Amino acid sequence: MNNIFDTLYQNHFINNNSSSVTSGHWKYNGGHEVEKSRDRLEALKGFGFGQYSQRTFARKIKYLYVEFASRKLLKEYNCHPVIIDAVEEVVKRQNRIFTYDCANMAICLDYTLKNILKKHDLQNIEQLRGVIDHCTVIGDGYGTFGTLIKLTMPWSRVSYVNLGRTLIFDYYYTNMAFPKAAHQLEFTQESLIKNDGIDFSYVEAENYKWISKTKVDLAINTFSMQEMNLEVIANYFDYLRQASGHRYFYCLNRAEKLLPEGEVTVFDEYPWSDDDEVFTHELCPWAQDFPYHFPPFRKSFVGKVKHALVKISGHCS
Ligand SMILES: C[S@@+](CC[C@H](N)C(=O)[O-])C[C@H]1O[C@@H](n2cnc3c(N)ncnc32)[C@H](O)[C@@H]1O
Repeated sequence: MNNIFDTLYQNHFINNNSSSVTSGHWKYNGGHEVEKSRDRLEALKGFGFGQYSQRTFARKIKYLYVEFASRKLLKEYNCHPVIIDAVEEVVKRQNRIFTYDCANMAICLDYTLKNILKKHDLQNIEQLRGVIDHCTVIGDGYGTFGTLIKLTMPWSRVSYVNLGRTLIFDYYYTNMAFPKAAHQLEFTQESLIKNDGIDFSYVEAENYKWISKTKVDLAINTFSMQEMNLEVIANYFDYLRQASGHRYFYCLNRAEKLLPEGEVTVFDEYPWSDDDEVFTHELCPWAQDFPYHFPPFRKSFVGKVKHALVKISGHCS
């Protein structure tokens, strides 16, 4: 096992670090099973942060319909061929079933990039080099969104910000897809800011303030702010506002969510600003339900899901 994995394992599974950025939801609901002997990984199983199903013969049969219906969604939403190829490559490199999560992230990225291309009067994704160079994924899990971004825009640097216990999964699966890329677990704000040819940066959520000093051309957050306390959500918004770069922000979360401590977070009440340039803010058309492997073959999310794409203003609350 290499250093990043070992360090995260030591910090978050042996020492069991948990801090104020870990909401009750993650203290009670999230599941991470990681077991390691001296130099062998014995178990790596996650629960509650998206779906990763290894592609075995039995699962290929079990999820035949889910794979078919999820791929169909890409066509329905007219996804760009570069993004379809990229998500298929993610699935291949990570040896996984093509689930709704994969389709959802591809459609979110497609939607975001189409709007940015239009805004900058550009035609092709390759022309986004110089516009979208630094991407920050807040609360990924299995490194799916980060890997998808890198395969779509290979020149970009992807920074993951996540709870340490999930960050280890982001690292493991990103490294599986990009074993030769430059990966760095960030120990200081300075190393995160430095332009030193790093492909993937890993930031433990306790250090999320570091975002404020970095360049963020595109920030992504899908189904993760809904699991954070209001204070942490507000801080993320402030740090993104303080960041340099284009600061496009794609955010997809439950319209309303009750956290275990009784706090209710409401999407429309996130600290949006009148100064933000809003491309969209609505119920997300492709994220109200998802294909399921059992009759009636569709399941609704618990509660409505909203999405917003904004160019977040530099004004702080
Ligand atoms: C339900 S999962 C969503 C996973 C993935 N983004 C998706 O769309 O399926 C919620 C994610 O939020 C992350 N998370 C929870 N609290 C966080 C925090 N304070 N900072 C960053 N990520 C956090 C979890 O570790 C997990 O990766």
